[in-house]
Amino acid sequence: MTRGCGVFAACLTAPLWNLLAGCQAENTSKEPAGPLTIPVAELPLNRRMRFEHEGRAVEVVRTENGVTARSLLCTHQGCNVRWIEDDQIYFCPCHDGQFDAEGIPTYGPPRERLRDLQVTLTPTTAVIGG
Ligand code: FES
Repeated sequence: MTRGCGVFAACLTAPLWNLLAGCQAENTSKEPAGPLTIPVAELPLNRRMRFEHEGRAVEVVRTENGVTARSLLCTHQGCNVRWIEDDQIYFCPCHDGQFDAEGIPTYGPPRERLRDLQVTLTPTTAVIGG
């Protein structure tokens, strides 16, 4: 009985608890530290453009309404997701996580949506995050 309680107590340590709970802890430590600046002229209209910034993937889309940006770090454990045009999903190869076109998790271990990033527009550039 005592041994069982000891095992239970060990299971309540934070890292293992996160593992048992599906690793839902937000992984923000992998986010880029500084802003990404992109000339607006390099953003074709209505196309998902992928940029690598400080080793992390970011998606930027320019529409007639402006520019939006999204972190492509999976909210499960921080792998880079990729957009699959044919299936209209973001796919994470690490644990087969999937997100819909809005970044909402639809399959696998991710529980949080892909993170939208702040965009500041100047007359010629889009400044992402920061
Ligand atoms: S890191 Fe586990 S599903 Fe993406």
